[in-house]
Amino acid sequence: MDTIECIKNRMSIRKFQDKIVAQDILQDVIATAQWSPSYKNSQPWQAVVISGAKKEALSAMMVDLFEKGKDANPDLEAPQSWPDAEAARINHLFKQRKEAMGIDLSDPAVIAKAKAVNFNFYGAPHAIYLYQDSSLSSWSLFDLGLFAQSLMLAAHAKGLGTVPQAFTTDYATEIKEFLGIPASKRLVLGLSIGYPDLDSPANAFRTDRAAIDDIVSWQK
Ligand SMILES: Cc1cc2nc3c(=O)[nH]c(=O)nc-3n(C[C@H](O)[C@H](O)[C@H](O)COP(=O)(O)O)c2cc1C
Repeated sequence: MDTIECIKNRMSIRKFQDKIVAQDILQDVIATAQWSPSYKNSQPWQAVVISGAKKEALSAMMVDLFEKGKDANPDLEAPQSWPDAEAARINHLFKQRKEAMGIDLSDPAVIAKAKAVNFNFYGAPHAIYLYQDSSLSSWSLFDLGLFAQSLMLAAHAKGLGTVPQAFTTDYATEIKEFLGIPASKRLVLGLSIGYPDLDSPANAFRTDRAAIDDIVSWQK
């Protein structure tokens, strides 16, 4: 697949085929992402791939914690407010999604339902968590973001779908314990991964992007 096409056509996938992905394919995707650049080639990323009964048990644990009203304890704090430009883009997304799919993400009841679906990894056969040592600097967090994008692009190039999910890190303490990840690591991102169900209405909505002039200036 052409690189430009791969970057532009990747989208978050929120409904998957009921078909497992062979381990060598998942391994190849992760091995490809390892070629991401990082500060001094420190490669500050670690991944855990969760499938089958283990994934089901993890989902059940997160749903249970949520239903019991347990406060979220993500290692990366959820944003409490946004500057005007970013807030406007988020409002635009929520409006578009409401119009296209009837999902109103400003409604707390809808968010509660969305959380449960997130904890079930949108029905994907596999989940991947990315983590790193908590003592690492912001640059390493930046590097892990590059790794995550490479992983999603490599997956897309192989016909797989992904969605990055901050929500799936809500119960970081419990998730790390469940997965045997030391408490000294920070759980940065969970992703669902599998073969996309492209006929599903859940995957019909495509986000747009800001006008190029809103994000670039040319200086001579
Ligand atoms: C760091 C990060 C966290 C995200 N968290 C979630 C999430 O918890 N649940 C979800 O459904 N999508 C989540 N997304 C997906 C975004 O909503 C999505 O990337 C954005 O709307 C752009 O759409 P696209 O990925 O289809 O291009 C997240 C994306 C990123 C990069």
